[in-house]
Amino acid sequence: MMLGRSAERATIDELLAGARAGRSGALVLSGDPGIGKTTLLEYAVGQAKDMQVLMTRGYETESEIPFAGLSDLLRPALPLLPSLPRSQSAALQSALALGPPLAGDRFSVCAATAAILAAAAERSPTVVVVDDLQWLDAASREALVFAGHRMQADGIALLLASRVSDDGDSPDLRLRELRLNGLSRGEADALYEDLIPSAPDEVRARLYDASAGNPYFGGLSVNSNTTNVLVRTDSSAIPTTTVPFTWTTSDELVVTGTYEAA
Ligand SMILES: Nc1ncnc2c1ncn2[C@@H]1O[C@H](COP(=O)(O)OP(=O)(O)OP(=O)(O)O)[C@@H](O)[C@H]1O
Ligand SMILES: [Mg+2]
Repeated sequence: MMLGRSAERATIDELLAGARAGRSGALVLSGDPGIGKTTLLEYAVGQAKDMQVLMTRGYETESEIPFAGLSDLLRPALPLLPSLPRSQSAALQSALALGPPLAGDRFSVCAATAAILAAAAERSPTVVVVDDLQWLDAASREALVFAGHRMQADGIALLLASRVSDDGDSPDLRLRELRLNGLSRGEADALYEDLIPSAPDEVRARLYDASAGNPYFGGLSVNSNTTNVLVRTDSSAIPTTTVPFTWTTSDELVVTGTYEAA
């Protein structure tokens, strides 16, 4: 259940409506780990059932492999390759290992990426979704950002999600950016009600202070003895502070735990 984010959802809705009406636009969702970027991308995909969706994501393990991300993204659009100028088609086929290798020509690949997305959007309004941009290989990122700067009346909605740097710096893409902040206390309370229903207000307040409204929880792991520990199950590199807490449930079970927050 997604809480809050009404302004962000409205911005995404506008972007999709623009693409349906033949206007292209780009939006970068940025923020801390766990703040809710993927959740909003999923919202966008859910709202785009009447549109063509092309998706890819960055993987930490593949960030050094040129064009790995673009190859995933463009797979459904490859039947359109013959509609591109021959040199662009050849460059893109070489980049994606679908044709004879050509000496690296970055501009041709970038231009071909913009052209094949425009060709796709000519058939049907198109949403291009890229998650975890911070891990996308540089070559794919360059081609997609290039295309993002050149889209006009094509009917493309480009949605990118990226973590900010450890210092909190935005990805510098020269595209419209929406920085995600934490949930409000009221929204976070609704989340805590779901995750830790018996937690007293004092515990919720401490969780909220520690997490600044970041909705990421690894989950509640229940130990069959006497201790429940709230931990992150994900090992992603979220900077952590630990908030120890204890309270007694209605079953007189003493619950202790830690919450590690961004
Ligand atoms: N608006 C929200 N309401 C309720 N839960 C949310 C909301 N946004 C995110 N969450 C929950 O928080 C967790 C983290 O969200 P999400 O995966 O979208 O974060 P992220 O920004 O993509 O993180 P990462 O940088 O690690 O990819 C998920 O369990 C998700 O369900
Ligand atoms: Mg994510």
